Amino acid sequence: MAQAGDLGIDLGTSNVVIFMKGRGVIFREPAVVAVEQESRNIIAFGTDAYRMIGRAPSNISIVRPVAQGEMLDFELTSAMLRQYIVSITGKHLFFRPRAIMSVPSGIKEMEIRALITSMFDAGIRRTQILERPVAAALGAQLNFLGPYGCMVADMSAGGTDVAVLCNGAVSVISSLRVGGDHFDDAIIRYLRKKYNLLVGERTAEQIKITLGGAVRRDPQVVMDITGRNLVSGLPKTMSVHSDEIYEALVDNVNDLIEGIQAVIEKTPPQLAADIFESGITLTGGAAALYGLAEAIGDVIKVPCRVAPDARDCVVNGCGRVLTEQPALRHLLNRF
Ligand SMILES: Nc1ncnc2c1ncn2[C@@H]1O[C@H](COP(=O)(O)OP(=O)(O)O)[C@@H](O)[C@H]1O
Ligand SMILES: [Mg+2]
Repeated sequence: MAQAGDLGIDLGTSNVVIFMKGRGVIFREPAVVAVEQESRNIIAFGTDAYRMIGRAPSNISIVRPVAQGEMLDFELTSAMLRQYIVSITGKHLFFRPRAIMSVPSGIKEMEIRALITSMFDAGIRRTQILERPVAAALGAQLNFLGPYGCMVADMSAGGTDVAVLCNGAVSVISSLRVGGDHFDDAIIRYLRKKYNLLVGERTAEQIKITLGGAVRRDPQVVMDITGRNLVSGLPKTMSVHSDEIYEALVDNVNDLIEGIQAVIEKTPPQLAADIFESGITLTGGAAALYGLAEAIGDVIKVPCRVAPDARDCVVNGCGRVLTEQPALRHLLNRF
């Protein structure tokens, strides 16, 4: 039986979010670590490390250890996770909670086992894994536990997992290389090409949130942005319009739509018919891109919506399994 205090953990490509049974979401930090290059000593985790992006001295690297949805650096990922867990459980010497965790789809089984061992050292009595699309669908309150098909696209920074679920399990799944980071990169490339202006990752993300869109914004939005002029080498501020950023993102958005369409084409006809009725649900932080659900729905001709609390669907799904045990227990992966 799950007890109060047990944890749901979303290990994401850009954020780690933790849910505590009986309390809801209690922790959210960037999945970022600052490391001194030579000694490999960790200087900072989370928000403190995130603030150093683009500003760190040359001997310090700012690492996102699971950035592309794969395990890029196991040592750092496990140190980060331990640090975050101990920040929650550390004060209670005899508090050894259980955890249900969801990890990016590119992390291998062997790496997951090693992470579970290192979480045990951090005080987690037992860790079980919930597949990401199942977690997202549960958190979005989708109806997939019975013989009825639904589609969820969980959009993280590192990519998008598109899945068709039915009878409480994944029926078709595909991982697309389009996510929030790809949108940011497209903005950086566009401004460099059009204006010889180099902006940092954090600025690009801000531009995406304020000006970006999968459809044109009406009325247009204008924002002053500052970067480095690549010709003079000096800082430069200029006004950028939302239509320009729409153009910067349009190829990525089309790739995403094609990827979703390809999954529908691979879906058995009866389930595809269910999806035409129940629609496509977007979860994850990157689903908040302006107009995304509208753009997808227009092309694919299937109703598409962003789930309420989209960025927390995965962690809330883990939380639901903790809270609604034993009814949802069968959804957990066996390790
Ligand atoms: N309002 C927004 N518009 C567009 N993208 C957003 C918005 N808010 C957050 N994002 C993007 O969502 C991504 C993070 O999604 P999230 O699900 O929190 O992370 P993870 O990759 O850890 O699953 C980032 O790429 C971030 O830029
Ligand atoms: Mg996410």
